[in-house]
Amino acid sequence: MVPGPARVAVVGASGKTGRAITAALEMGLEMGGVSVVPIGRREWDRLAQVLTGCDALSLVAPNLCIDEPAFVGEALSAAETAGVGRVVYHSVAAPYVPAMPHHLGKARAEDLVRRSSASWTILQPCAYVQNFLPALRSGAAALEVPYGVDRPFGLVDLVDVAEATALVLLENGHRGATYELGGPDLVSVADVAAAASEVLGRVITASRLDPAIWVAGPGAGLDPRERDWLLAMFAYYDRHGLPAGGHVLRDLLGGRSTTLAETISRELASRD
Ligand SMILES: NC(=O)c1ccc[n+]([C@@H]2O[C@H](COP(=O)([O-])OP(=O)(O)OC[C@H]3O[C@@H](n4cnc5c(N)ncnc54)[C@H](OP(=O)(O)O)[C@@H]3O)[C@@H](O)[C@H]2O)c1
Repeated sequence: MVPGPARVAVVGASGKTGRAITAALEMGLEMGGVSVVPIGRREWDRLAQVLTGCDALSLVAPNLCIDEPAFVGEALSAAETAGVGRVVYHSVAAPYVPAMPHHLGKARAEDLVRRSSASWTILQPCAYVQNFLPALRSGAAALEVPYGVDRPFGLVDLVDVAEATALVLLENGHRGATYELGGPDLVSVADVAAAASEVLGRVITASRLDPAIWVAGPGAGLDPRERDWLLAMFAYYDRHGLPAGGHVLRDLLGGRSTTLAETISRELASRD
């Protein structure tokens, strides 16, 4: 492996994805020494200054970002000013879905990344298995989601996604690539419930919650724009799920990726 850049900036480092990427980078010390520069809201106004001296940038926008193209455009411009050579943009599987505003924002942001002066790579992860952990850890007997529980998803282990991100940030040879990152199998929410039942030794059922009930319940306290975007996502999931391919991730990770059962087992055994 060619020794990679030493100083890596992570936008969104304190978020769910950014924490996993930071952990994976810090485990990548054998790749030649890595120091992580975390970037959040506090650093945003002096981004070019903070990025100066960084060799690579992991660009992760906040979840349901109100204007992801603007966010990504600002980061790309600061990276160019600071002379950061490599940018790895965290998109999503199936970004060009006009029915889902936050996916469409990522499709537009991908276009900005491709037309930037950076040496770029785009990662398109599917939904993380880890999204279900709060519900599974709550002790509830049912996993309820506002979409069909038998729909196909390329659910992926966030730890695998983070490891692949660290690799692409640190290793040469990924310039101009767009990698869809799905788990090894297409699975459903019913499969998540079955895997959790096995690990926890008690039955967890999976059921579809009427979106109207979700709006009145879990969705009630959300910002209206975020609630509408999530409802659009649920409606899409209800019809199509979110299938994604797993071969690229497996290749990036040297011929292995983590199954749903392995992720659930590892995560439910830990307390975080
Ligand atoms: N969850 C999934 O299954 C999944 C799958 C594929 C892709 N993704 C994508 O992954 C990305 C990250 O999702 P996440 O849930 O990990 O994010 P998150 O937990 O919401 O992360 C938020 C992060 O963004 C930073 N941030 C928020 N507003 C900011 C601003 N105005 N300027 C600069 N930084 C700001 C926060 O920094 P501070 O709080 O430190 O200021 C924090 O580090 C999203 O783009 C999402 O679409 C998620």
